[in-house]
Amino acid sequence: MTFDNKKLAAEAAVAEVRDGMVVGLGTGSTAAFAIDAIGRRVAQGLRVTAVATSVASAEQARRLNIPLLDFADVARVDLTIDGTDEIDGALVAVKGAGGAMLREKAVAAASTRMVVIADGSKQVERLGAAKLPVEVLPFARAFVLSRLVELFDRVELRDAGSYRTDNDNVVADCHDAQVSDPGVLAAVLQAIPGVVGHGLFLDEVDAAYIATDGVVARVERGG
Ligand code: 5RP
Repeated sequence: MTFDNKKLAAEAAVAEVRDGMVVGLGTGSTAAFAIDAIGRRVAQGLRVTAVATSVASAEQARRLNIPLLDFADVARVDLTIDGTDEIDGALVAVKGAGGAMLREKAVAAASTRMVVIADGSKQVERLGAAKLPVEVLPFARAFVLSRLVELFDRVELRDAGSYRTDNDNVVADCHDAQVSDPGVLAAVLQAIPGVVGHGLFLDEVDAAYIATDGVVARVERGG
């Protein structure tokens, strides 16, 4: 029997959405299931407003008649539901394969509660198998790359440099960090002028819904 684990995790998390909430809409194929589920509940009468973490998610929300706010006008979000590329037992996550990590992190930081949704393949004992995307100001590209190659075994500009985020920046996909502590790595990355964001989510995630073989497990920060 096959299960759509992404969809199951997404639908379990969407059960947390309540009338009156400002909801953060994540980005990616798992988050898209959550947006679909919110759209179905809106069609049935749920009253929420939402902020989107990407142009693609905003377009999906508009198609589903989910009322959208401009995040530029929003200081607090009640609940954000987003996907991940990796998540460990302490709920430290690596995000950004979809290139939306900077907006995702801003919305997550503004959120009273941020839940990650994923299939079991994203759950890891130790972070590091997934690439770590770093969003880079194009103006500082060569300088930032020269710093990144000192920190990682392999650094590739996404689509050979032609990829642009929704913020019109480039992405360096970084593999095999020399620094094993995610907190230290995040601090070092953030201190490089020209790095505008990265996919390490150290403490933003409050809970995770992980679906494996059709069974959804919820993990809360701090047990
Ligand atoms: C986009 C993200 C996504 O949430 C992450 O890449 C997971 O995507 P998917 O659900 O398609 O596997 O961080 O920037």
